[in-house]
Amino acid sequence: MYVLGVETSCDETSVSVVKDGNIVLSNEVLSQIDIHQSYGGVVPEIASREHIKGITYVFDQAIKKANLSYEDIDLIAVTKGPGLIGSLLIGINAAKVISLNYHIPIIGVHHISGHIYANYIEHGMEFPLLALVVSGGHTELVLMKEHFSFEKLGETQDDAVGEAYDKVARILGLGYPGGPAVDKLANQGSDTFDFPRPMIHSDDYHFSFSGLKSHVINKHHNMLQRNEEINVKDFSASFQEAVTDVLVAKTIKAKENYQVKQVIVAGGVAANSGLRKKIKANITDIPVYFPIMDYCTDNAAMIASAGYFKYKKYGKSDDLYINGYSRLDLEREM
Ligand code: KG4
Ligand code: ZN
Repeated sequence: MYVLGVETSCDETSVSVVKDGNIVLSNEVLSQIDIHQSYGGVVPEIASREHIKGITYVFDQAIKKANLSYEDIDLIAVTKGPGLIGSLLIGINAAKVISLNYHIPIIGVHHISGHIYANYIEHGMEFPLLALVVSGGHTELVLMKEHFSFEKLGETQDDAVGEAYDKVARILGLGYPGGPAVDKLANQGSDTFDFPRPMIHSDDYHFSFSGLKSHVINKHHNMLQRNEEINVKDFSASFQEAVTDVLVAKTIKAKENYQVKQVIVAGGVAANSGLRKKIKANITDIPVYFPIMDYCTDNAAMIASAGYFKYKKYGKSDDLYINGYSRLDLEREM
């Protein structure tokens, strides 16, 4: 089954063709990072306009590189949310046009289900499994007892991990997106600041990163005021150690409590080298998987894979009234 995936929830215009959920025939990604960088973050209005400019080209390239034509496509899977509403609507409307024109069924999928299924492409899935979802907008632990079933065990009560990374990068003057830059510096420094590990011992699977973020910002501010020299490498390493300690501790707790067969990490922050190392070093009894780098950040291959499994599970597609949603609950994804 050939699935055409479409992803435009933030600042990447992506279209992909995936066969049977994991054979990626093409995965075209047009990134807008260069454009948003000068603003220090994604500007929604600009993102929508860039999607409009690039979308037709990206569709054509994805089909061409897969060596197929639209007549060969069996299903279109498009991100319906959560994300920037203007951006989402560009992808959804483009997908509708192709659906209508070529009589291809269309199905809307949750962006995070895509991030989770990015792992399926390389590694497959064995249930029950635990997914640690860490992205720019999400931080949650999700239990999957079967394909396309998502039970949220806990989530961040305030900021997402990626958001905290981006904020810390901004005060350190590292630009946008900040996660990769902080990660790189962290690898060259050591944990000398001993930042707090919020909620690490709490009895639930929730997270909180806004307190840590404020603590880090205040520390930076106070040091600047006192004219103290800030070792950016140690500062980054200390932040990364604090964040990954919490993420890994909660993941281990959930893994043990729910007796899962596999742990998968999903979302942009799954690219983080410190997290990769720490989780692998601490979970050795069952497989721990990360998507390859290309599938960590936003891409349409993961959306095609998720759409394939959603369609297989429910046996039905959406109609052309399918809409975009800036907020969307993963557990109600059907
Ligand atoms: O999943 P994603 O591409 O977009 C959302 O769906 O939110 O995640 C983007 C986030 C950004 O906050 C970015 O700074 C972060 O992922 N990120 C990282 C790394 N690479 C990307 N954070 C920490 N370490 C990295 N290596
Ligand atoms: Zn994402």
